[in-house]
Amino acid sequence: MPMGCCPPGFKRAPYPSALQFCLEMVPLVILSFLLASVSSAVIKRDVQKDDGIDIYSFHIKSMVQSRYAMTVITSRVANLANESHEVNFHVEIPKNAFISKFSMTIDGKIYDGVVKEKAEAQQQYDQAVQRGQSAGLVSAVGRTLEEFKTSVTVAAHSKVTFELTYEELLKRRLGQYELLIKAKPTQAVKDFKIEVQIRERQGIRFLDTRGKLISKELDKVTRISQSDDEATVQFAPTKQQQQQCPGCETNGLDGDLLIVYDVNRPKSKSDFQVLKGYFVHYFAPTDLPRIPKNVVFIIDRSGSMHGVKIKQTREALLKILGDISEEDHFGLISFDNAIYKWKPNLVPATPGNLEAAQAFVRQITDQGATDINNAVLEGVRMLNNLAESHDTKDSTSILILLTDGDPTSGVTNLDSIQANVKEAIGKRYSLYCLGFGFDVNYEFLEKMALQNSGVARRIYPDSDADLQLQGFYEEVATPLLLDVQLSYTGVSNLTQSNFSQYYNGTEIVVAGQISDNDLETLTGTITARSKNNEVTYQDVSVKEENLLDIYIFEMYIQRLWAYLTVKQLLQKEVLLGQSEKEALRKQALDLSLKYSFVTPLTSMVVTKPEGEDSQVLHKPKEGKPDHRGHPGMFDDVDYDYVGPYIRPTIQGRQPVEDVVDLRILQPTAGHSNRLCFDVQVSQKQNYKLLDDQTADLLVVGQVNSEAKKGFRQISIRSKAWGSITVDTTKIVLIQGQKNEDFSWTPFSFSDASNGLSLNMHDEVLTVEVGETKMDILLHRDGQNSFLWPAVKKRPPSSTATGIIGQFLVSYEEKQVIPTGILEIQDKEVPASRETAVNYNDPSKPRVDCWLVPYQSVLGVNLSELTVVQT
Ligand SMILES: *[C@@H]1O[C@H](CO)[C@@H](O)[C@H](O)[C@H]1NC(C)=O
Ligand SMILES: *[C@@H]1O[C@H](CO)[C@@H](O)[C@H](O)[C@H]1NC(C)=O
Ligand SMILES: *[C@@H]1O[C@H](CO)[C@@H](O)[C@H](O)[C@H]1NC(C)=O
Ligand SMILES: *[C@@H]1O[C@H](CO)[C@@H](O)[C@H](O)[C@H]1NC(C)=O
Repeated sequence: MPMGCCPPGFKRAPYPSALQFCLEMVPLVILSFLLASVSSAVIKRDVQKDDGIDIYSFHIKSMVQSRYAMTVITSRVANLANESHEVNFHVEIPKNAFISKFSMTIDGKIYDGVVKEKAEAQQQYDQAVQRGQSAGLVSAVGRTLEEFKTSVTVAAHSKVTFELTYEELLKRRLGQYELLIKAKPTQAVKDFKIEVQIRERQGIRFLDTRGKLISKELDKVTRISQSDDEATVQFAPTKQQQQQCPGCETNGLDGDLLIVYDVNRPKSKSDFQVLKGYFVHYFAPTDLPRIPKNVVFIIDRSGSMHGVKIKQTREALLKILGDISEEDHFGLISFDNAIYKWKPNLVPATPGNLEAAQAFVRQITDQGATDINNAVLEGVRMLNNLAESHDTKDSTSILILLTDGDPTSGVTNLDSIQANVKEAIGKRYSLYCLGFGFDVNYEFLEKMALQNSGVARRIYPDSDADLQLQGFYEEVATPLLLDVQLSYTGVSNLTQSNFSQYYNGTEIVVAGQISDNDLETLTGTITARSKNNEVTYQDVSVKEENLLDIYIFEMYIQRLWAYLTVKQLLQKEVLLGQSEKEALRKQALDLSLKYSFVTPLTSMVVTKPEGEDSQVLHKPKEGKPDHRGHPGMFDDVDYDYVGPYIRPTIQGRQPVEDVVDLRILQPTAGHSNRLCFDVQVSQKQNYKLLDDQTADLLVVGQVNSEAKKGFRQISIRSKAWGSITVDTTKIVLIQGQKNEDFSWTPFSFSDASNGLSLNMHDEVLTVEVGETKMDILLHRDGQNSFLWPAVKKRPPSSTATGIIGQFLVSYEEKQVIPTGILEIQDKEVPASRETAVNYNDPSKPRVDCWLVPYQSVLGVNLSELTVVQT
């Protein structure tokens, strides 16, 4: 399944946007799950510390094996008071996840949730309600998260442990995976820990952490250790640290931790994994030429778009028009009850045309009714015209419809519109439907998109709606392959394996069962159309039953397969007639039950023995529409969000070409093997190479994105005497008002009053300042040249930070095989044997080293080593 935006033809499964929980007989313990959309009204106040309720332990542990994430939240609570108290367990989990386990342990007894068919659970639920007992209901939905809430009455001086497990397959979107963890324990907790362990056989290309939890002071509490194929992120602030933020003193932390990463993908190779009778195949080539596209934007300008919506739409379109690739064709339609075409036909995306289109966009204002039928058909006609007048064989054609309401003009019957559009498109183009806000009939849009090998998205009416729109466009901006078909020998029960488009930044994932167990190897063949030619890839996997220890959890491929299958079945359902629906539902239900997934077809029931006292705490809110105006709890198939967490990606994401990987050799004491570490630096930033306050020296470097190695500029600054700025062509010394320029030819300069001397020979510039001596080497690499700094001597008393700021570091080898573990500065860190080029030496020899996470040497995150340009 492609992660991120799905290629058309791919269907993402509807989302378990709601959970249902039921209780049968409830003695002391009463669970209730409340509609979050009405949360402030009905959710009981959070437990205050002076209630004597002590959450003494709160752990979130997430294990990710090849993008399949299993997360366990464990909360341990004691009632210290001498009367019984209600205790809340309230967590938020990603919308895309399925809950697969929930248990409560009270007085040593474990009460496990059991997943049942929704109808069956509903019956128990109804019975409980009839008996006047509390029973649970629906969890709720936000943009990215769902709420899970329960409460239980705990006797005086007793404890309860809640444990919730959920699973999800991380989608690749815009070139990265995102794992979102939300923590809100409602009070400061003695033993608080979030731990994420990621294992990716292909190797982790980069990993970054963001989010409110780790902002400011708590950034330092985050520990990241990373080796080639494994990364661990630990966040364990003390109780005191949890109370530092404003408002946190009584309520503890409240925020999210977002871990973004991507894996290595050498040369379009796919990754094939086989385990315990199941396989998964990941395919995300990047080194292909982009396929030109023909795109028609069909924009609703009806009266309901009035105000912020139309403004945000204009802003998004202006930006999108700025991003369209020159080889593309585009057209623009705005519609209300009439249709306004910017140009009768699609035009090439020349700068002149784009500018003129932007002028048109600025004029779009809201008025009138909504004639979706006519507008989409007109878009199709424009694409037909283009196909008649141009050779469109080597391009792909898409329609992007943005609307915020139901059709109110022209053809308004939804089935008729769907039929008309499907017929007009005739499988030739893809239709993407963006539903703006909650007044749209999302199911209608979704079905129409899926019928025409596209996907639907909801745009949330928030201040960042324009970014959501742009983000969506960005995902489909770069088609790389068309008609992708993956086929395998000796397998069955495949998840979706045909995809009409593959976009850069996404990923195709196919899983299945191995039916022929005699096969020694599994072969996968991928055929597709790339720009101007057909391509075929073949991949062979050896079964790896013996390598189990490399997996974090050994069933992950099987569970991944089940997860994908259920999601795809549920989504396919949208397209089918009633009788076909039933068969599909049955299949999805059976799998949900077998894997204990809480999906839209199942509920989790927590049953307690009968005959004990029970108590009614809450009545479910029934029949109340959720905040989208949908009456039912499972109508919402809106799993496919562009969430707020995309936002940093759009704004803060560095285009890959701006980023340079540097491997730094660390001077090492007492060992023949040196340490080395990798840092991924952006050319847009200046980094502290050496910040030595005792020596009054700050050395700042800017990387060289052309050479992809080393630096293009290094400057040495001192408060006392000025600065030396070195680039690959010249050296500029600034002292007060005085500037002196040198070039990369031999020279000597000295200024005894400041203890400063410069010496150039053989393309090595030696700078001596007081007791510090450093070389800046000019290396040539084909056409490019770059600089490399090397510290030769430091005042013994100095302490410094910076990428090359560390003195000799010593380490101890704790373990050498199968993987390395070193102890550095009292911490054990993963290490692997690697090599690095020693750029401190003009002859650039390659040497062996132990590669360790950079934090273990530098002691801080790279983000703390950036310098604002002055
Ligand atoms: C415990 O209960 C007793 C009476 O039963 C009361 O006097 C005392 O204040 C209570 N202690 C706490 C900590 O609530
Ligand atoms: C696809 O994305 C990769 C980075 O993930 C980039 O290097 C490559 O240039 C992109 N391809 C196209 C055609 O834009
Ligand atoms: C897998 O496919 C076989 C037929 O090839 C079928 O009998 C079996 O029920 C399928 N298993 C599941 C879990 O769908
Ligand atoms: C994939 O597409 C090919 C060619 O259109 C077709 O023969 C095949 O049946 C499709 N496979 C699946 C699983 O839909």
